[in-house]
Amino acid sequence: MSRLNNKHIILAISGGIAAYKSAELVRLLIKSGAQVQVVMTSGATEFITPLTLQALSGNPVHQHLLNPQAEAGMGHIQLARWADLLIIAPASANVMARIAQGQADDLLTTLCLATGAPVLLAPAMNQAMWRDQATQKNLQTLLARGIQVHGPAEGEQACGDIGAGRMLEPSQLLTALAAQFNQGLLAGKTVLITAGPTREAIDPVRYISNHSSGKMGYALALAARDQGAKVILISGPTQLEQPEDVIFVAVESAQDMLKASLKVGSTADYFIATAAVADYRPAQASEQKLKKHNPAHGLTLELLQNPDILATMSKQYPGAIHVGFAAETQDLIPHAQDKLKRKGAHMIIANDVSNTSIGFNSDNNQVSLVTSGGVEDLPLLSKQQLARQLIVAIKKISHKASIT
Ligand code: C5P
Repeated sequence: MSRLNNKHIILAISGGIAAYKSAELVRLLIKSGAQVQVVMTSGATEFITPLTLQALSGNPVHQHLLNPQAEAGMGHIQLARWADLLIIAPASANVMARIAQGQADDLLTTLCLATGAPVLLAPAMNQAMWRDQATQKNLQTLLARGIQVHGPAEGEQACGDIGAGRMLEPSQLLTALAAQFNQGLLAGKTVLITAGPTREAIDPVRYISNHSSGKMGYALALAARDQGAKVILISGPTQLEQPEDVIFVAVESAQDMLKASLKVGSTADYFIATAAVADYRPAQASEQKLKKHNPAHGLTLELLQNPDILATMSKQYPGAIHVGFAAETQDLIPHAQDKLKRKGAHMIIANDVSNTSIGFNSDNNQVSLVTSGGVEDLPLLSKQQLARQLIVAIKKISHKASIT
């Protein structure tokens, strides 16, 4: 269940072209189970209609501070008290300036003063306006007051300029909002997970891969998220739906997966390697589609060994807890113990894939947890149940390794 389930969110929209993205943010919040009240400044209504936001949020949009009708319903103080969180997205330069000054001349700024809930800003403006001294000074004032500022991102702007000023994407804002409700075993921790198969290109249309479904890795991502972690899921190609409230990085090859893991590895408290990484890749991926020639001749591919992502990560980031999987058809525990040492892992989760009712594409799994302290056998469980138990087990190792 999403951390945003049943949470009360006020989304305040100020005037800027990024206002159109706020409609998607409302949709994502509703999908996560949040209750959403939308506040719009008069500028915002020039960019997107209140009716759109009303339809998406399922609630009338609040536009005026002193509207007798609105005050008879959910008045501004009631609204301020109702909120678990107030996000202003997009936050224009003008709105930032007005909040910095403590103004209360419209509903949005009044709510900022009146609410006891955390306030988040997602600035969006022209890059020169963002860089301007006045905006930067306002930013410092807001930060010093405990207001959280997410973004802006760099890139091409609606006005044609390139630079910092784009509002973060709705999915990124959703992650930031969910993180405000961090509770659980892994609250405040970052969990990096690899999942799914990798694809190693032979030519533009062919590749070497395996049958990994990604189910175990995705289940772990959800279980870690539900325990309050910030989750980064680096996934090879799968048929699964991208989990919500999780930072998702799509990759193809083992080398891409390693690069993506190394890039964010310094932020991770836990690295869980569930991916079924292809052991080998073609030495040279052909730029053109390989053609059949003489039927008497086969095709010989030269294969190179792929880097071991888990072993590389444990060496590069020894401060994190490293967990791997071992799918074996024989001598399960000795092989897992060997992997534990060879890959520098704290735990190897071993499963016997000679039994086709568990592992790889199945919805269930039965594993043994192998650590330097011994072996613990778990019963047959669904991958979701197992994921929840594994998160608890992984958290226990971190105690032993004195990560708190
Ligand atoms: O060596 P083997 O493939 O059996 O090891 C399995 C474990 O190591 C899994 O956790 C898998 O994600 C990880 N691994 C890896 N990089 C590789 C091969 C495996 O991270 N190239």
